[in-house]
Amino acid sequence: MIFGIIGAMDEEIEKIKNEMEIEKKFVKAKTIFYKGVFEGKKIVLVRCGIGKVNAAIITQLLISEYEVDIIINTGVAGGVKEEIEIGDIVVSTDVLEHDFDATSFGYPLGQIPRLEVLGFNADKYLIDLAINSSEKELEYGSVYKGRIVSGDIFVSSQEMKKKLCDNFNAYCVEMEGAAIGHTAYINNKPFLIIRSISDKADGSANDNFNEFVDLASERSVGILKRILKSY
Ligand code: ADE
Repeated sequence: MIFGIIGAMDEEIEKIKNEMEIEKKFVKAKTIFYKGVFEGKKIVLVRCGIGKVNAAIITQLLISEYEVDIIINTGVAGGVKEEIEIGDIVVSTDVLEHDFDATSFGYPLGQIPRLEVLGFNADKYLIDLAINSSEKELEYGSVYKGRIVSGDIFVSSQEMKKKLCDNFNAYCVEMEGAAIGHTAYINNKPFLIIRSISDKADGSANDNFNEFVDLASERSVGILKRILKSY
């Protein structure tokens, strides 16, 4: 069993890279893949870069070239629901591409035409593992289970944040999770997105992101470690 672990940015994978036992490095598509052991499990770790296209390319490579069985994405996100605070964790129930708009053909916002699903469901067993292990061990903050939406937009306005909440009932927003889920779905692979909140996707989002990206990245990796330990 090999876990493919994806983070979009260096900050999001740094702790794993430092703590894992690296056996081999591969370079493909201008990207470094680290094969090794982390928390007693075989993993391939990769920084995919920012945005949906990067995330989809690298997820497909993890599956096709490095033969991972399960895909987990760890990282940070902007909180969408008002009650979600910086540092809180959101574990994906499903993911959706919020910037996909074929409404003029009668499709609901976010739905990819001619694909039978609106969003992509995360693996139930991984969701339960994440929730059970984190509820027991998190020192502070809350853990939520809900929809994560992704788009090629850094959301930093109350107006857009409200739209994501009203249109999709999104818990948080980021820029890769739905592309990872989409790629996992078409390859019949289980996946989970774990995000810790770095900002509230509002007018202060840029400043908050810079201040809290390291802390939030670390908290998300904390949940990942617990999942791997108990898997
Ligand atoms: N990742 C972290 N914060 C974000 C935001 N506000 N919008 C999109 N992606 C993010």
